[in-house]
Amino acid sequence: MAMISDRHPLILGCVLGFLVLLGGCHGGSLRKNFYRKSCPLAEEIVRNVTQRHVARNASLPAKLLRMHFHDCFVRGCEGSVLLNSTKNNTAEKDAIPNLSLAGFNVIDDIKAELEKKCPSVVSCADILALAARDSVSFQFEKPMWNVLTGRRDGTVSLASEALTNIPSPHFNFTTLQRSFASKGLSVRDLVLLSGAHTIGIGHCNLFSNRLYNFTGKGDQDPSLNSTYAALLKTQCKTLTDNTTVVPMDPITPLRFDKNYFVVLNQHRGLFESDAALLTNPTSAGIVREMLIGDKFLRGFRASIKRMGGIGVLTGNSGEIRKVCGKIN
Ligand code: HEM
Ligand SMILES: *[C@@H]1O[C@H](CO)[C@@H](O)[C@H](O)[C@H]1NC(C)=O
Ligand SMILES: *[C@@H]1O[C@H](CO)[C@@H](O)[C@H](O)[C@H]1NC(C)=O
Ligand SMILES: *[C@@H]1O[C@H](CO)[C@@H](O)[C@H](O)[C@H]1NC(C)=O
Ligand SMILES: *[C@@H]1O[C@H](CO)[C@@H](O)[C@H](O)[C@H]1NC(C)=O
Ligand SMILES: *[C@@H]1O[C@H](CO)[C@@H](O)[C@H](O)[C@H]1NC(C)=O
Ligand SMILES: *[C@@H]1O[C@H](CO)[C@@H](O)[C@H](O)[C@H]1NC(C)=O
Ligand SMILES: *[C@@H]1O[C@H](CO)[C@@H](O)[C@H](O)[C@H]1NC(C)=O
Ligand SMILES: *[C@@H]1O[C@H](CO)[C@@H](O)[C@H](O)[C@H]1NC(C)=O
Ligand SMILES: *[C@@H]1O[C@H](CO)[C@@H](O)[C@H](O)[C@H]1NC(C)=O
Repeated sequence: MAMISDRHPLILGCVLGFLVLLGGCHGGSLRKNFYRKSCPLAEEIVRNVTQRHVARNASLPAKLLRMHFHDCFVRGCEGSVLLNSTKNNTAEKDAIPNLSLAGFNVIDDIKAELEKKCPSVVSCADILALAARDSVSFQFEKPMWNVLTGRRDGTVSLASEALTNIPSPHFNFTTLQRSFASKGLSVRDLVLLSGAHTIGIGHCNLFSNRLYNFTGKGDQDPSLNSTYAALLKTQCKTLTDNTTVVPMDPITPLRFDKNYFVVLNQHRGLFESDAALLTNPTSAGIVREMLIGDKFLRGFRASIKRMGGIGVLTGNSGEIRKVCGKIN
């Protein structure tokens, strides 16, 4: 008991204090506008700097949204994805090149601006959660979901943990469900959050097996739309091409909309992990539900809020980094 509470005081406090009342502890101790008194302009500064970058580079929303996901799935949303490797440690961001994260400079810029106004007040984990929201929201000119704040920053980032916690694009429904369940997320969250693939790109080598060697017999994935496969083959010419990228939503690659689900229903989901959502009756039903009206945009709010509460450090745990790339 003593050992558990020494090592995981938050988890224990969370279970005891919030589980019964709230039916879960995701984001249980995060708050709306946590910095209202300590740094009133914090959220405005994050928004302004994010918008400045996104206005110049439309690929950034996808980078920042994915970075927030990777942060939350490894040790919880505590900014470990932002830490650089050091002499004695290979950090998450250097796990394997094919994780291809980007956009760190945006977070660094926001942090520098915040340190001028409110030194050592706003955590890097909160900056990332807010910047992901604000970058995606830029095209709508209004915030697309609420972000609770009050996260603190972790001090550990291990490449090995990224490899074991980030779901692979080769996962099937069972392994995806297990991965999300291990973070307290449901099948509905899995489907809604996969809708983030309505923006951004994928590298050929992560799905080329579906085009050229699905079962090791030089074959194609039968669940992949054959017209679409033919098109992909003109772009991804070999199994090992790790430089060419294609949009995950070929209809509106930069627009945060429900077209991921339209495409998925036409068997044009890019990764096996996308296609897997059609292989289970429950998740396939949710995929079809997302085609109706604005069900995706509305449903996404709840799921990303849950994701943003995974394993957060609050109170006196962790620290407020001065620079997001290294611990204090
Ligand atoms: C369900 C399990 C998931 C798997 C297996 C998965 C896998 C991948 C892979 C392999 C890529 C392509 C990376 C590249 O080639 O550079 C990608 C891109 C992306 N993912 Fe996921 N992902 C998952 C869930 C999520 C979630 C939950 C989010 C956010 C809420 C997300 C957001 C993104 C975004 C925005 C991109 C585009 C990145 C870019 O344009 O550079 N993904 N994902
Ligand atoms: C954010 O940008 C708006 C519009 O450009 C500007 O009026 C405002 O002063 C900026 N806020 C901060 C805190 O920099
Ligand atoms: C790496 O070394 C630094 C000091 O050089 C130390 O503060 C840090 O805890 C070490 N990290 C790991 C993961 O051992
Ligand atoms: C791409 O593949 C080449 C050759 O296999 C390898 O040397 C390189 O490190 C890979 N790059 C990435 C980003 O995975
Ligand atoms: C936009 O940002 C991405 C990710 O940081 C980067 O790879 C790309 O070069 C940038 N594009 C431009 C035009 O600056
Ligand atoms: C990275 O590449 C390796 C080897 O190509 C592959 O086994 C692994 O599944 C890939 N990981 C991700 C997250 O794409
Ligand atoms: C899903 O993948 C896991 C791990 O590779 C495997 O053990 C399992 O049999 C697969 N399930 C299905 C239904 O294919
Ligand atoms: C296809 O996969 C099989 C079995 O893994 C392998 O022996 C073969 O070399 C692969 N073909 C190509 C073109 O890589
Ligand atoms: C394949 O994709 C096209 C759109 O490119 C669509 O019209 C067609 O219905 C899809 N086929 C299947 C089997 O989903
Ligand atoms: C982290 O690494 C990046 C790129 O290698 C570099 O630009 C940045 O300054 C580093 N940050 C810190 C705090 O060392």
